[in-house]
Amino acid sequence: MSEPILELRGINKSFGPVHVLHDIDLDVNPGEVTALVGDNGAGKSTLVKCIAGIHPTDSGEVLFAGEPVHIKGPRDAADLGIEVVYQDLALADNLDIVQNMFLGRERTKGGLLDESDMEQAARKTLASLSVRTVKSVRTQVSSLSGGQRQTVAIAKAVLWNSKVVLLDEPTAALGVAQTRQVLDLVRRLAEQGLGVVLISHNMNDVFEVADKIACLYLGRMAAVVSTKDVTHGQVVELITAGRSGDLGIARPEAATI
Ligand SMILES: Nc1ncnc2c1ncn2[C@@H]1O[C@H](COP(=O)(O)OP(=O)(O)OP(=O)(O)O)[C@@H](O)[C@H]1O
Ligand SMILES: [Mg+2]
Repeated sequence: MSEPILELRGINKSFGPVHVLHDIDLDVNPGEVTALVGDNGAGKSTLVKCIAGIHPTDSGEVLFAGEPVHIKGPRDAADLGIEVVYQDLALADNLDIVQNMFLGRERTKGGLLDESDMEQAARKTLASLSVRTVKSVRTQVSSLSGGQRQTVAIAKAVLWNSKVVLLDEPTAALGVAQTRQVLDLVRRLAEQGLGVVLISHNMNDVFEVADKIACLYLGRMAAVVSTKDVTHGQVVELITAGRSGDLGIARPEAATI
């Protein structure tokens, strides 16, 4: 198996007196989808924000391609090739697809925006992800459906030679057909060799696209399991009790202290 692209070792994070993440270890492998699951408040979004440089960690180590790195802000994460797609998407409604994909990182030529170059790159990225539902890259984002927006947000994340893409509940607000499109896209990102982390509450989605499942329980990593080795029921137990048979935290009740 290939070397992990991203390794978390002993990550701790508190907000004031609230200790949210306890000694989190996690490997993200290139070409794989790692699902990050856990109950509301388990710490999933916080962990993603720590990786993305939005929250500083209190202790622990992050390795990228085997090298220790210090991600101090979103810019550091982006420079490494770590991109995050947040649930609220953060696309600008009043701009078109190209403008959104290049927002803050516009390409210029002779002091002017290089519209045709950006347009071409946007088209190429969407095509490489086999996105066919968006008719024109000059469509204003306000007129796109939820699924199309999510697609643009993901395409935006992979436009920058990304190595790792973190998706925080990308299908939470989507219907059946749109969820299908986004899950296909998630799979394609992994097939292109990216390390993908997918946060989801939907066990069907998780079992469909994930190679492995990381189960957070009250801010602790209860278990990281291969999807093929576990049942839905076991994962639900890990999420709700921190333990399932031989898997999980030895004394889950200790985690509540
Ligand atoms: N900026 C913050 N300041 C203080 N506490 C926070 C902050 N962000 C998150 N928390 C707390 O950290 C804990 C974990 O929250 P987080 O958002 O990471 O959970 P989650 O697993 O993403 O949950 P959900 O499934 O509901 O999205 C919660 O108890 C939350 O109240
Ligand atoms: Mg969350």
